[in-house]
Amino acid sequence: MNSPHMQGLSLNAPAYVKNARLLAWVADMVALCKPANIHWCDGSKEEYDLLCQQLVDSGTFKKLNPAKRPNSFLACSDPSDVARVEDRTYICSAQKEDAGPTNNWMAPAEMRTTLQPLFDGCMQGRTMYIVPFSMGPLGSHIAHIGVELTDSAYVAVNQKLMTRMGKAVYDVLGVEGEFVPCMHTVGAPLAAGEKDATSWPCNPDTKYIVHFPETREIWSYGSGYGGNALLGKKCLALRIASTMGRKEGWLAEHMLILGVTNPAGKKYHVAAAFPSACGKTNFSMLVPPEAGFAGWKVTTIGDDIAWIKPQADGKMMAINPEAGYFGVAPGTNMHTNPNCMLSLNQDVIFTNVALTDDGDVWWEGMEQDTGVIPDHLIDWQGRDWTPQIAKETGAKAAHPNSRFTVAATNNPAIDPAWDDPAGVAIDAFMFGGRRSTTVPLVTEARNWTEGVYMAATMGSETTAAAFGQQGVVRRDPFAMLPFCGYNMSDYFQHWLDTGAKLAAAGATLPRIYTTNWFRKNAAGKFVWPGYGDNMRVLKWMIDRIEGQVHGEETALGVAPKYEEINWTGLEFSPEQFQIVTSIDVPAWQEELKLHDAHFEKLAYHMPQALLDTKAALAKRLAG
Ligand code: GTP
Ligand code: SPV
Ligand code: MN
Repeated sequence: MNSPHMQGLSLNAPAYVKNARLLAWVADMVALCKPANIHWCDGSKEEYDLLCQQLVDSGTFKKLNPAKRPNSFLACSDPSDVARVEDRTYICSAQKEDAGPTNNWMAPAEMRTTLQPLFDGCMQGRTMYIVPFSMGPLGSHIAHIGVELTDSAYVAVNQKLMTRMGKAVYDVLGVEGEFVPCMHTVGAPLAAGEKDATSWPCNPDTKYIVHFPETREIWSYGSGYGGNALLGKKCLALRIASTMGRKEGWLAEHMLILGVTNPAGKKYHVAAAFPSACGKTNFSMLVPPEAGFAGWKVTTIGDDIAWIKPQADGKMMAINPEAGYFGVAPGTNMHTNPNCMLSLNQDVIFTNVALTDDGDVWWEGMEQDTGVIPDHLIDWQGRDWTPQIAKETGAKAAHPNSRFTVAATNNPAIDPAWDDPAGVAIDAFMFGGRRSTTVPLVTEARNWTEGVYMAATMGSETTAAAFGQQGVVRRDPFAMLPFCGYNMSDYFQHWLDTGAKLAAAGATLPRIYTTNWFRKNAAGKFVWPGYGDNMRVLKWMIDRIEGQVHGEETALGVAPKYEEINWTGLEFSPEQFQIVTSIDVPAWQEELKLHDAHFEKLAYHMPQALLDTKAALAKRLAG
């Protein structure tokens, strides 16, 4: 084994770690990062408890009141480190064209030269945690293994909830198995004897979230937050996995997966791509309205990521590579998402929400449950917060991108097949943006190509999930703009090819729908009630699949007639329906100009079929 300068620090690998490449890599990374200690994570409960206690001792975690929220913690981050940093995220493929115009790119050699001095000594004074994890059920033919080296105990405990993490991974990995090396540092080395001055060490000035798709490596520097730091999630399960899928004929998508069972007991599976903070977690845990939906049931397979493999029999089998939820807190309550609230009763890590005076958590939206806003809170930045202060300064108690981390097994609506290594067969895909105007409630594509076009041109208003301006419409094709590890036009082609291949084999392709829960009226209020009432749209989609409703053809595709939607228990007039479904032709002509600009940017390798689909749409809109 080649281990250059170990500086006297022994690897002390447990006997069950036998993978030669892993041992050599860890030795090299220890030599590079120069941690003070090494901790091989075994994934046990004892280890989780110990690390949480250490995080409490170091001030990163506050233990919540066990009478209110057993075994749960609150972490508040540095204000500079609250969301994904898209402008610091790189796809370092050998060829710039392979990263494409939607990704930041640097030549691999140049990036390595940039990262080398940053990682040299980056873990001084800290412990390196070696975190083995499986994305997908252990040993599933669809799953992949990653190993994250991190100097953040917060990352290690989050990975325990978010992935299948621990010792059992090494049994699958064996002596020669493959894994994706995921290198992570908060980028804040400590000098000899120096103690952390903050409870959230990070590098406020320098951040790099880097992917080398050809060598399947991830290097993350400077951030401890979410997708920047929990490297199994966006970095491995989307950016790297999308490049694997392209090569190997499968799909890695920013999609929830749900099961929906009708009163007759027939079950369908739907995969839905909505951009960050646009409703995946909520939709995946949907509770149908009480009236009019007796016997309908929705169960969760996944809330954020889907790996989908076409099989020889023509089925598109999907798994959730994750084992937990890193979900948006604000807006979550017993009215909007009861299954989620019940998931959060215990064993949760909260990040950047507010602390109540009795040691529990609070975020904007909880007042819907209690009827009152607390008189006093400690906000996510550790400051006093009162309704009066909020009124005067606009200060939010919880950061808009505050989140919870919780194991999927906490979810009362978990699907029995959520952990099935074989996955579930997808019957429909949905693509839904956040659009105050223009885009109707639901449209069915008339064929696969039209569906790919709808997904490829999807626009959405930006949210707090990523650093930067919010509420600006941008194209977010397939909700994958920040997550596609290769050229976006090639990705469109991959979707077209996948459909064509399945169709050629005689398969019935999943239907494709676009949705928009977020249309607003002149007063700036959401018109569609959303949340559980989204069941009404889901049912219409199922009715379409079953051939029970005809819908009507519009310029965009097939849309529901008012009377085709089950309105029991909801007062929603034809006029209101008109507001959320109307197609404003001048607005759509403007929208098409945005599609044009988008396609121009993506001109390299843009599939002709999508250009043809656009031309046909323009013609239909013209009358
Ligand atoms: P990521 O985890 O960032 O990928 O987000 P997500 O797609 O899982 O979004 P999530 O379900 O967490 O929802 C984000 C925000 O949108 C929350 O504040 C929700 O309350 C709100 N939201 C979700 N569904 C609906 C809906 O149907 N209507 C409205 N108006 N808001 C919704
Ligand atoms: C998203 O931004 O889409 C998320 C949250 O799911 S994070 O894991 O931070 O990327
Ligand atoms: Mn997401």
